[in-house]
Amino acid sequence: MAITVRLGNKADNPKIQDLVTKITMPGPAEMCFQRTPDFFTGAAVIGEEFVITVADDDERPDVLAGLTVISGRDLYISGKRRRVFYSGDTRVDPFYRRRGIASQLFIAQKEFRTGQDLLQGIVLKDNTAPLDAARKAADGVLFDYWVSHTIETSFIYTRKLTPRIPAGVEIRAATAADVPAMQAFFDREAPRRNGYPCYDFSKMMAQDPYYAGISIGDYALAFKGGQIVGMLGGWNQKAFKQTRIVGMKPIMQVIRPLYNVYAGLFGGFKLPPVGGMLNYLTLHTTLVAGDDKAIYQGLIDWIMANAGQKYDALACAVCNDDPLLEVPRGYKRQKLFSTHFWLSYGDDPRPGIDNRPLYVELGRL
Ligand SMILES: CC(C)(COP(=O)(O)OP(=O)(O)OC[C@H]1O[C@@H](n2cnc3c(N)ncnc32)[C@H](O)[C@@H]1OP(=O)(O)O)[C@@H](O)C(=O)NCCC(=O)NCCS
Repeated sequence: MAITVRLGNKADNPKIQDLVTKITMPGPAEMCFQRTPDFFTGAAVIGEEFVITVADDDERPDVLAGLTVISGRDLYISGKRRRVFYSGDTRVDPFYRRRGIASQLFIAQKEFRTGQDLLQGIVLKDNTAPLDAARKAADGVLFDYWVSHTIETSFIYTRKLTPRIPAGVEIRAATAADVPAMQAFFDREAPRRNGYPCYDFSKMMAQDPYYAGISIGDYALAFKGGQIVGMLGGWNQKAFKQTRIVGMKPIMQVIRPLYNVYAGLFGGFKLPPVGGMLNYLTLHTTLVAGDDKAIYQGLIDWIMANAGQKYDALACAVCNDDPLLEVPRGYKRQKLFSTHFWLSYGDDPRPGIDNRPLYVELGRL
C-alpha cells in the first residue's frame, strides 16, 4: 500500500461521502455527522476559500484514506477584520489510522499557509485523538497550537411557550427593508467579540454560497424605541449537513417509542429510527446590545415559539468568557463541551489577539 496526498476536488465528492459515513460517534445511539449530498456546499459555508487535502491508497482507487480542510474566512480579531483559517473536517478512515496520514495531510496544507497566518480549530472535549495527533505533529515542529476557550453548545429542547420579552422591547421577523439597519447594527456590535465572522447582508440577500440556507425572514430582531437592540437567526442546514442515527443499542431500540412519548411531553430530542436524522435548528448571528441577557432570552424564546416549533431543539454555542453564557443554561437542554485552540505554522499568534470574548458561529464549524 502506497499512500499519496493530493488536493481534493469536486469529483471526489462520492468518495468523501463514503469516508464521512465510516466515521461515527459511539453511544447508546451511534451518530454520524454527514454532509450529503454535496460536501462542497457545506465547505463553502465554513469558508469563502478552502484547501482540501485527501489521501489516496494506490491499491484501492475507490476509497479515500483521509481528508482535511483548511478554510479561510474574514473574522473580527481585536476589533479589526482579519483572514482567519479554520482547520476542520479531519477524518482518517479507521482502517488507515496510526500510520501518520493525518500528519501527512497537514504537511500538504502547510504549502498554502505562511508563518503569520492565524488558524483556529475546535475538538469535542472527550475526543483527545486529534489533539494527541496535533501534539505529536507539534513536536516535529510542523505547527503549534494553544488551547484558548471552552465552548458550551446547547441543544435547547423546544416546547410551546409564550416568549418572555422584556418591557419596552418588541421582537419580530426581519424583512428585506430592515437590511440597512441590520448591517449598521452588525458593524457596530460584531467587532466586540473576537472570532465574529464579518457578514455582508447584501451578499446574503444575493444568495452567496457562504450564506447557503439563510434567508432574511429567518432572523428575529429586537427593537427598543424603534432601534435594533438584538438579532438572532435560525438556520436550517439540513440541505447540506445532517446528524444521522446510524446504529442503536438493542435496549434503545426497545425503549425508543416510550422515550419519544416522554420527549414529546416534557421536551427532549426525539430519537429517529436508525437511518433517520436529528431535527434541530441552528441559531446564528447572535448580537445583543449591551449583552442584555433578557433580550437574548427573549430572542431565543421568540424563535422557539415560531420557526422552532417545527424542530425538536434549537442549537447554540457560547464560549466560556461570553457575558451571555448563562442564558442557554436557563433552558432544558442537552449540552456538549468542546475546546477551541489557535494554531500556527509559524509565529505565536496570541500577541495579536486581545481579550475580547470569543464568538464561534456554530453553523460554520
Ligand atoms: C484524529 C485522526 C484524524 C488521527 O488520524 P491518524 O492518521 O490516525 O493520525 P496519525 O497517524 O497522523 O497520528 C499521529 C500521532 O497522533 C497520535 N494519535 C493519533 N490518534 C491517536 C489516538 N486515537 N489515541 C492516541 N494518540 C493518537 C499518536 O501520537 C500518533 O503517532 P503514533 O501513531 O506514532 O503514536 C483520526 O483518528 C480520525 O479520523 N478520528 C475521527 C475523526 C476526528 O476525530 N477528527 C478530528 C475532528 S477535528
